[in-house]
Amino acid sequence: MGCCQYYFPTEGGAGAFTVEMPRITFGRGVLDEVGERALVCGIRRAAVFTDRYLVNGEHFACARASLTAAGIDATIFSEVQIEPTDRSILAAADFLKDGDFDGVISVGGGSVMDTAKGALVYATYPASFETYFGPPVGAGQPLPGPVLPHVACPTTSGTGSEATGLLVVRFEALNTKFVFGSRYLLPNEAVIDPACTDTLPPTIVASTGFDLLSHAVECYTARAYTRWAKVAKPNARLMIQGANPWSDLHAREALRIAGAYLERGVADASDHEARDSLSWGATLAGMAFGNTGTHLAHALSYAVSQQARGFHPPDYPSSGGTFVPHGISVIVNAPSVFRYTAAVAPERHLEAANCLGAETRDATPEDAGEVVAARIISLMKATGVPNGIGGVGLKREDAMALAESTMRQRRAIGNAPRDTALEDVQRIFEQAIAYW
Ligand SMILES: [Fe+2]
Repeated sequence: MGCCQYYFPTEGGAGAFTVEMPRITFGRGVLDEVGERALVCGIRRAAVFTDRYLVNGEHFACARASLTAAGIDATIFSEVQIEPTDRSILAAADFLKDGDFDGVISVGGGSVMDTAKGALVYATYPASFETYFGPPVGAGQPLPGPVLPHVACPTTSGTGSEATGLLVVRFEALNTKFVFGSRYLLPNEAVIDPACTDTLPPTIVASTGFDLLSHAVECYTARAYTRWAKVAKPNARLMIQGANPWSDLHAREALRIAGAYLERGVADASDHEARDSLSWGATLAGMAFGNTGTHLAHALSYAVSQQARGFHPPDYPSSGGTFVPHGISVIVNAPSVFRYTAAVAPERHLEAANCLGAETRDATPEDAGEVVAARIISLMKATGVPNGIGGVGLKREDAMALAESTMRQRRAIGNAPRDTALEDVQRIFEQAIAYW
């Protein structure tokens, strides 16, 4: 165990952590196992979630043929919205409620898997939408009990949603995203077929790859679980429970993969070694942050996607307006965030940088923020992502409005290793305008 691996107990702090995981199947071609996997879960009448782009493609056809071969009656919902909202989740819940289904299959990226999770929530336990989200948007009521079985099949390599019980939704009235988690939302089965990423264009591989990279750095540098208050009952322990030895294990390997393969996976769609590795890295990072929670880079990202102007990357479907893919909205903040958080946890930031491939032999603790930021910036440059939040149309004078919006992400801000106030977030945004 290295110098920064032991979790020292704290007065009144948690003395235990709990790991939640789905069963995981990984490998080229495993989409044709979906039918058998669903049968194991007791599914005979499946609601199948996908999006309008995937529904006519070869990967969805493969999953569908597998369901048919297993004798499963499948009804398709392909109206998933990219970056789902409260309204689009409720439409999906209506579909699920009306169909007399005994299980759910999701085939797609994070938006598809999160829509399936959201539909399971509101079809099973109807409530006003904010009920299960934490303050300030909702009361943080726990999900009352289990939902139908869910087989999740990711087709991108970033979100990690197949390995988590977390759900991200944009509230239309507030125009910002919020997250909630429940062990009942963990998919029963995650079926990860990296062949699904063979046809992804470079911009999508870059965005999703930076999402996985930041999941891993955030987990590795999050507030230690021993610094969160001890819970009164074991079942009250949240999945967002802070850094712990389980998430460390997965975060380190996810970082090694991102450092070795992100550039290659973006540059060459035929590089199976790189794309398969990124798929595995995304799932590993999901196993980590599903049991840790992310912190500031994700907390800040929601304000960036909300307030960006005049930006739409190539390769993503256009509705005519500004759109910042999730991974981009995260990584444009990340170097500035880690420069800020490294001051209180330099060893962990240096180790994260080392896993990403940075030279850290002669680095001192004072160098930690700069070393990890420089490695991330070099990957950003190499893969052509925007140069900071200025690259998605934001200016220095936007920093306070961005910070005010961010402060609503209380749990994620609380999961940062440093106590963080409004002015700190404002400064992080000011220093994220451009990096080169
Ligand atoms: Fe993410």
